[in-house]
Amino acid sequence: MKIVVLTGAGVSAESGLGTFRDEDGLWTQYALEDVATPEGFARDPALVHDFYNARRQNCLSSAPNPAHFALATLQKSKAHEVVLVTQNVDDLHERAGSLDVVHMHGRLLGALCADCDARWDVAAAMAVDDPCPSCAAPASRPDVVWFGEMPYHMDEIMADLETCDLFAAIGTSGTVYPAAGFVDLARQAGAHTIEINPDPAGGGFDAVIAGPATTAVPDWVKSLVG
Ligand code: APR
Ligand code: ZN
Repeated sequence: MKIVVLTGAGVSAESGLGTFRDEDGLWTQYALEDVATPEGFARDPALVHDFYNARRQNCLSSAPNPAHFALATLQKSKAHEVVLVTQNVDDLHERAGSLDVVHMHGRLLGALCADCDARWDVAAAMAVDDPCPSCAAPASRPDVVWFGEMPYHMDEIMADLETCDLFAAIGTSGTVYPAAGFVDLARQAGAHTIEINPDPAGGGFDAVIAGPATTAVPDWVKSLVG
């Protein structure tokens, strides 16, 4: 069976990374227009770097949780073909042992040159005038997809959705497109669709497992790999 898994901030919530739209979420502390749009970065790049530097530190000081490990087990079990797509920019799936994680919104631990499109890994803080290691332009930015920008790997994701047998959305509010529309594409392709969330978004899934990721995901994986 081919399974496409889509994760959102909820899969990392119990690792202490918080979410965006829960009551104390990031978008209640920052205006997303200021820190997650190209216009915000042009207006005040230092503020945007501060925002992502804080999230990068938070990410580096957190640890994967049982949901991340369970999804890595599902991938490595080879019982099914598994495509793991995440909206998250943290590296907790990788640190739990997942391979080929499809980061459709980019990566906190990645940097991008706005001038020459070079990409490189960053673990420390970034600053406005950091020179690009390829062209030396002071044009580096977090390699994160902002609102109004095209998510990464969309062709690959669409092809996987059109050929999957099972689609599982884990820990996402289903409010941001194109990810919010993946369940419809999967269903049109004939896949069974499930949502795992303590507070299900109710986006027309065939089944819902209402529970926190750290218990619901390991149970779900056990049901698939025994
Ligand atoms: N386990 C599973 N899900 C949880 C948990 C948990 N312990 N705690 C909260 N959730 C769920 C919430 O019920 C909610 O549905 O996680 C979801 C978090 O929703 P959002 O904060 O909107 O995060 P997400 O859906 O990933 O946002 C999508 O929006 O801001 C952009 O680019 C950003 O990738 C992000 C995108
Ligand atoms: Zn460059």
